[in-house]
Amino acid sequence: MARGSFPKPVENYEAFAIYGPSILTSEGSQWAHYRRYTTATFNEKNHALVWQESLSQGLQMIEHWTEQYCRDRSHPIFTLHNIRDDIVKYTLNIICRAGFGVTVPFRPTCHLRDANTESLFQDSALPPPGYRFTFASVMEYISTSVLTVFLANGLLPRWIPRSLVPFFKNDFIAYDDLRAYLNSLLENAEARQGLSSHNLLEGLVKARRNSTEDDGDGKLHDARLSDDEILGNLYIFLIAGHETTSTTLRFALVLLATHPTIQDQLYDEINEIGRDERADISMWDYERVFPKLITPLCIMLEVLRLYPPVSSLPKWTSDKPASISYADQQYYIPPSTQISLDSNALHYNEEYWGDDAAEFDPTRWDKRNRNSFLAQNDGTEGLSGPGLEHETIHKPVRGAFLPFSDGVRACVGRKFAQVEFVAALVVIFREYRVSLAKISPEESKEQMRSRVEQALQGCSNYQTLTIRENVPLHFRKRD
Ligand code: HEM
Repeated sequence: MARGSFPKPVENYEAFAIYGPSILTSEGSQWAHYRRYTTATFNEKNHALVWQESLSQGLQMIEHWTEQYCRDRSHPIFTLHNIRDDIVKYTLNIICRAGFGVTVPFRPTCHLRDANTESLFQDSALPPPGYRFTFASVMEYISTSVLTVFLANGLLPRWIPRSLVPFFKNDFIAYDDLRAYLNSLLENAEARQGLSSHNLLEGLVKARRNSTEDDGDGKLHDARLSDDEILGNLYIFLIAGHETTSTTLRFALVLLATHPTIQDQLYDEINEIGRDERADISMWDYERVFPKLITPLCIMLEVLRLYPPVSSLPKWTSDKPASISYADQQYYIPPSTQISLDSNALHYNEEYWGDDAAEFDPTRWDKRNRNSFLAQNDGTEGLSGPGLEHETIHKPVRGAFLPFSDGVRACVGRKFAQVEFVAALVVIFREYRVSLAKISPEESKEQMRSRVEQALQGCSNYQTLTIRENVPLHFRKRD
């Protein structure tokens, strides 16, 4: 099968090109051009920044929970009825810092703007002059209203006066405000030489300085990303980069609440690693600590296997036919055939995962578990697919695990996501036990468990696979 036989039907992604073309919305040589830039920005220095910001945001989130929901702070026990918004905020704030270089406090400031600082990006109750949203609130609005923002700013003909569609008012304003904020960040980044904060925006700006490319004719061409292309890619990092991780984290918290033994194993591992580290977790070093955190990584892989946020990957045969071989047979696929890769069908297949394929068992990934079904693949060459580039884990058969897609178009932010996910588990489970909470005093334990099982089974796709119902969780500080 030729590498380019199944391109992406990029017209499905139009909604994502409202600020400019990007890695997600393009194909062929244009995509390769963007991919070269973006791959360079998602590097280990950026991941170290993701780690640092994730620990900081995680600690602030817990502080917020104890302040808000805990009656007696000397015995921290509290119940969260809806964890979704806080987890979304956690991942969004990480993108703000590690993607765009703007630090947003977990708890929004209620103060008015500080007249002494000119920064557009300071967190405050009121937006800066000329804006209707603060930076934090526009990020939140845009990321939660992807569809209406697209309808208003991508689909609606420009000749229609905005006053005739008042229900899109906030979508117009948010779109304009985000563009202005991003332009300002871009100007700042351009103005600063010797950039060193390693966020994704700076990475793109740095890479476009003096950039030239060989178009295949041996001559070098000026191939610098335009401002619109930078904005288009930044918008994609925002959209692709937080909902996927937050929904994975939410599934993980619910699954861990129903699997206390795995929580204990997680706690023991964090404790063991913490023995050589400072008491203040925000000082834990990415390079030294992250590779040792095997259990949280295995938990993420297992959640992604059972609940892949993007469970259907669209491809097509373009205007040419394609052929594939399966079980020694050659199959012809006509031009213009739409194809959807179904990760669920692969992730639950007993042939690749063993007869407990439907069970949540993170230890199946752990290389220390010699009894894992996956251990039979150890030593086989070429199994390290996207997201599986770690020596500490067993690998499934190549192609059987697709949460980050596979091949050249695989997710470029997979390690970014793994780092923020692992950091969240470390911060939460180092101190707390999490269990299911009843929704009424009359609810029995059996009813509670079956309610949660139904919520997991009834999860459905909106932008990503998500648990529709609120699953209240109980947090108790460990002694
Ligand atoms: C658990 C978290 C994540 C999952 C499950 C995930 C999954 C995916 C999948 C399945 C694709 C391919 C989509 C397709 O072909 O239609 C993809 C592409 C992409 N992802 Fe992720 N993603 C995650 C996190 C992130 C993060 C944190 C970022 C950035 C900060 C990111 C940025 C991207 C980009 C830019 C692409 C387009 C790559 C290309 O077309 O070459 N993702 N992701």
